[in-house]
Amino acid sequence: MNSQITPEILQQLAAIIGESYVFTDLETRHHYGHDETEDYVFPPGVVVKPGTPEEVSAILKLATKLLIPVTTIGGRTGLSGGALCIHEGIGLAMDRFNKILEIDERNLQVTVEPAVITQVLREIVAEKGLFYPPDPSSQGSCTIGGNVAENAGGARAVKYGVTKDYVLNLEVVLANGEIIWTGANTLKNSTGYNLTQLMVGSEGTLGVITKIVMKLLPQNSHNVLMLVPFFKAEEACEAVSAIFRAGVTPSALEFMERDAIDWTLQFVEGLNVQVAENIQAHLLIEVDGNYPEVLFQEAEKIMGVVEQFDIDEVLFADTEDQKNALWKMRRSVAEAVKANSVYKEEDTVVPRYELAKLLSGIKSIGKKYGFRSVCYGHAGDGNLHVNIVKGEMSDEAWHTEVTKGIREIFELTVALKGTLSGEHGIGYVQKNYMDIVFNAFQLQLMKGIKDTFDPNGILNPGKIFPDSL
Ligand code: LAC
Ligand code: ZN
Repeated sequence: MNSQITPEILQQLAAIIGESYVFTDLETRHHYGHDETEDYVFPPGVVVKPGTPEEVSAILKLATKLLIPVTTIGGRTGLSGGALCIHEGIGLAMDRFNKILEIDERNLQVTVEPAVITQVLREIVAEKGLFYPPDPSSQGSCTIGGNVAENAGGARAVKYGVTKDYVLNLEVVLANGEIIWTGANTLKNSTGYNLTQLMVGSEGTLGVITKIVMKLLPQNSHNVLMLVPFFKAEEACEAVSAIFRAGVTPSALEFMERDAIDWTLQFVEGLNVQVAENIQAHLLIEVDGNYPEVLFQEAEKIMGVVEQFDIDEVLFADTEDQKNALWKMRRSVAEAVKANSVYKEEDTVVPRYELAKLLSGIKSIGKKYGFRSVCYGHAGDGNLHVNIVKGEMSDEAWHTEVTKGIREIFELTVALKGTLSGEHGIGYVQKNYMDIVFNAFQLQLMKGIKDTFDPNGILNPGKIFPDSL
C-alpha cells in the first residue's frame, strides 16, 4: 500500500476533478480525519471532492494503479470509525453528491445521492405525504450514504426496519473503476446474488456508492408518546418483550438508564422533564398509525403491561412541543455522554427477551474491571448502546482493563445469541472482537468477498477484519 501522496499524484487528482477540489491543508485534512468515534483523528494525506460517478471512477482507477488507500467519507457521525483514514491515503469526501434526484410518487420511491442529509430527505418526502422511517439520532447531520454503508437504524426500526429495508438499488463504483447498478428498482428481486444488500453495511470496503434508490411509505397521521419511569432498570428491560407479547408493536421502544437522562438534562437546556429520586430507568414508548382510537387502545394495552412492574407515574406527551422535547432528550444522549467524558461506545444487540440478562451482565462485568457504563438504546430491537465512560480512570486501566471488559461483554452478547453491532458497524474499533462471532473459516469467506470486489485492498483498509487476518 502506498500512503505517500506525492506532488505527481496531486497533479493527477487535480486533472481528474479540478484543482479547487483537491485539499492538502492541515485544517481540511483534520476536519475529514475524524468522525464521532471516541477521540480518534486519522487525517487522510489528501481530501478530494469528486462531483460525478465518472470522477469517482477515475480516482479509483488511479488509486488501483498506484495502490493508494481510499476511504469514503460522509457526514462523519459514525461511532465505529468506519470513515477514519487509518492508512492516510485519499479521503474521498462525498459532499458534492448532495441531491435528491427523483421522488417517484407513483411508485413510492426516491433516488438520492449519498451526501443527502437523512433529516432533509425525511422532511422533503414528508411534504409529499411520504414517509422515510429510518431516523438515526444523528439524522440532522448524518448522510444517507453513511446510513447505507453502516446499515444504520434508529428509534423507528422496531416497527419499520433499518436502512437495509429501504434500499432497493445502488449505483456503485468498484475499485477497478467499473460503475455498476446492483439490482433493480423493484420491491422484490430474486435474480441472482443480492449485490444490493451485500453493499449495505459493507462500510466502504467493497465500493463507493454514488446513487441510492429507496422505497418510501405513505405518511401516517397520528402517534401517542409516553415516558414510563421504572424503579428497577432490569424491570424496564423485562417490560419490553412483554409489550410485544401483549400484541402491540410500538413504533419506538427506547430504554434510557438514569445517568443517560440525568446527563442529557444537564447537557440540553430547556428540557422540562422531572425524574423522581429513585428511578433507575425509563422506557420511551410510541405507537403510530392513522386511527387515534386504535392508538389509544394500544396505549392502554401497554399501560396494562407496564403497570405489572414497579413504575412511577407515566407521562403522556400531549402537545407537539412535549413530544419534540422528549425526542430531543433521547437523541441527545450520545452527545451528552460524550460531553461528560471520553467514552467507548459498544452497540450490543440480543434477542429482546435477553435484554435484562444483558444489562445485569454488563453491570457485573463493569464491577469486575472497574468501569462505569451508561446504557441506553433501542430496547424494542434488543439493541443496547453501552457507553463505557473513562471519567477518572487511568490511561493504563482504560486500555487494558476496559478492553478485557468489552471482550467479556461481547462474549456475553454472543452467548445470549446476539452479536457485536446492531446499527453502528464494526469499522475500526470493533474489528479485533470479530473472532468472538466468527471463526477463521467464516472470516476467510468474508475476506474472499472483499478480495473479489477489491483485489488490491485499496478500499477502506484496516476495517471490519481483525488485524490478525
Ligand atoms: C443513538 C445512536 C447513538 O441511538 O445510535 O442515539
Ligand atoms: Zn442508536
